[in-house]
Amino acid sequence: MNVTIIGGGYVGLVTGTCLAHLDHTVTIIDIDKTKVDAINDAKSPIYEEGLDVLLKEHIGKNLKASLEYSSIQTSDIVFITVGTPPNTDGSSNLSYIRSAAENIAKEYMIGHTQHPIVVIKSTVPPGTTDNIVRKTIQGCIPDVNVGYCMNPEFLREGRAIVDFFEPDRIIIGSSDQVVIEKIKELYENLDSPILVTGSTAAEMIKYTANAFLATKISFSNEIGNLCKKLNVDVYEVMKGVGLDHRISPFFLNAGAGFGGSCFPKDVASLASMIAQNDLDPVLLKAVLSINSNQPEKMILLLKNRLISLNGKRIAVLGLAFKDNTDDIRESRSIPVIEMLLSSGAVPVCYDPKATENMIQVFPDLMYCSSAKDALKDADGCLVMTEWPEFAELDEEFSLMKNRIIIDGRHILTIPDAEGVCW
Ligand code: UDX
Repeated sequence: MNVTIIGGGYVGLVTGTCLAHLDHTVTIIDIDKTKVDAINDAKSPIYEEGLDVLLKEHIGKNLKASLEYSSIQTSDIVFITVGTPPNTDGSSNLSYIRSAAENIAKEYMIGHTQHPIVVIKSTVPPGTTDNIVRKTIQGCIPDVNVGYCMNPEFLREGRAIVDFFEPDRIIIGSSDQVVIEKIKELYENLDSPILVTGSTAAEMIKYTANAFLATKISFSNEIGNLCKKLNVDVYEVMKGVGLDHRISPFFLNAGAGFGGSCFPKDVASLASMIAQNDLDPVLLKAVLSINSNQPEKMILLLKNRLISLNGKRIAVLGLAFKDNTDDIRESRSIPVIEMLLSSGAVPVCYDPKATENMIQVFPDLMYCSSAKDALKDADGCLVMTEWPEFAELDEEFSLMKNRIIIDGRHILTIPDAEGVCW
């Protein structure tokens, strides 16, 4: 099929490249020339395992990036994968979605295939496909028979290529039979359960899945905080709890809390929708509040041991919001660094992939090229990301001035690290 993807960010780039690998012909449109040039040079603008290899294999063949929207006219399917950043009240800013819909309509005015299909992959509030995308396009071109679908993504950063090719499920949110069959055909080489729903239910599924996963983490953190007081190992507790098949062993890792571009934003957005509907989002407010309190717990543990942080050199291991990514959005390391700075401490940071991104946020910090360098002469150490290489650290800790090590991710294997809630 001919596919156009509007938005060459994380979701659009991974989706487009993977669709090219399924033998579709894909154009990724973005307004950022630097990004378009990088993609066309087979250089991924983001770090994502396996993406560079697939880009090299397909770019210039059945995959290209473009600043122009004209490929829409000849596409069987047009995906919208633009960002939906949060407004100050937590609700989603849909201006990029609106402008993508307007650009699609403009191209369909010039020309189009028989039954053009517009698929929304961005995370959008319930009703957006019908009330914003469909209405915007139909308002411009009432005579064109356009099909609409909400097809949410469930890609985890760092594992997105695997998640694309081995999804737990594919949700097709549409009531148009032609559209449903076409989307099934698009993914026919993937072995995955398919659930067909209404477009609004599909929009709701995405928020609900992310909110539930975030709830599992905050729940584990609340239990973990109690376990620490009771001197019980929360990881042992959650292992026993997760063996119940109704609960599952996944996403019960207590620690510094969740970050990233999805969970904090999606939970806040869902909470704001609940409030807008005259309901009180009691549970989701608690999920967010537990999450925002976890980083401070790490600082308090450090203060308990060092008394004052003023002038103390603190190694911060891990800047990315999780392992296997260079993404620092909503990373728990950011509030931790802010609290260290306001206590007069000197953060000395290391991350295998995310340093350049963190320099944009904190240009004046000390950044090291290895964990060993960051630990040298440190008065304390905070582990903020579950990078597998941190599990190998051992002798490096003996370079510290004071061996005070707080693990926020249950990743260290040395015996004397103190966990944030274990
Ligand atoms: C998430 C969803 O998993 C994915 O389906 C969705 O489409 C996008 O959002 P992602 O943000 O890439 O993916 O990361 P994920 O692996 O889900 O982790 C999110 C955060 O939760 C990380 O900061 C991670 O460290 C933290 N986490 C995860 C925990 O603190 N405990 C856990 O048990 C699991």
